[in-house]
Amino acid sequence: MRFSSEADFSEKAYQTLVELVYKHSRIRLGSDKHTLLTNRLRKRLITLGISSYDEYCDLLQSVNGVEEIEHLVDLISTNHTKFYREPEHFNFLTRSILPGLMPQLLSEKTPLRIWSAAASSGEEPYTLAIVLSEYLRAYPSADWNLIASDISRRMIAKAQQAVYSMDSVQPVPVELLKRYFQKGVGPAEGYCRFKPELRQRVRFERVNLFQNEYPVPLKQHVIFCRNVMIYFDPPSRAIAVQRLARYLAPGGYLFVGHSESLLGIRHGLVSIKQGIYRRP
Ligand SMILES: C[S@@+](CC[C@H](N)C(=O)[O-])C[C@H]1O[C@@H](n2cnc3c(N)ncnc32)[C@H](O)[C@@H]1O
Repeated sequence: MRFSSEADFSEKAYQTLVELVYKHSRIRLGSDKHTLLTNRLRKRLITLGISSYDEYCDLLQSVNGVEEIEHLVDLISTNHTKFYREPEHFNFLTRSILPGLMPQLLSEKTPLRIWSAAASSGEEPYTLAIVLSEYLRAYPSADWNLIASDISRRMIAKAQQAVYSMDSVQPVPVELLKRYFQKGVGPAEGYCRFKPELRQRVRFERVNLFQNEYPVPLKQHVIFCRNVMIYFDPPSRAIAVQRLARYLAPGGYLFVGHSESLLGIRHGLVSIKQGIYRRP
């Protein structure tokens, strides 16, 4: 089979792909991403036995197209993440949020509810699980519910696997690495796996931030939705933030990435610190 190349990309096919990706995920691909699309789609087209982008567009727009659009979004989205990414956010959680919140939740016998809403391959929700577990050692009767979601089924499956290279767990302090990870042996040497006790406490869901309702309980105390707003245009960012804010408890916190400003977006939240917002 002939390999599709950039040259095969008609402007019409490119525009169709850009629009379909936007409609499904609100990820806005610029007009200069032909090479990225070509590189990421090459293998997929071969797998499907399709030799042109026009043919691929026909498939995407057919009755079975929705499933393929999910694949497409999965292929083009950026999933870069790491353990303890933007560590000040985790420090703020343990130093400024939890000390005020936990006594109240304990007296109400309410579990702490935290949601990682663009969880990628799991590094962010598992960092939260470690941080919570460590902090709550002082509160043995405290309960917590942690949800991890992403638009990408592939990423959710990877997060559920919870297998990481030793390189990628480097940001985890050695003592916590020993406490929360199992080291791989034999063929798994060089890898480690997040321990089942905590892994099983994380509930995984597939959530597109632009679906109308989220399969997540209301009144979340903390929502992390970091380093994904950057891929959305301002109107889409506003929709996502307003929707997420509905799932916050009064007084609850929304975290976005350090470089993701919500400036100019009407969201009704109060800005607390870089990337940290609070529902009044
Ligand atoms: C760059 S990663 C960020 C991971 C993590 N939050 C962090 O800060 O390290 C962005 C994630 O957002 C997900 N994503 C993109 N569009 C989305 C959407 N419309 N709804 C939900 N997740 C989306 C991608 O699949 C990807 O895993």
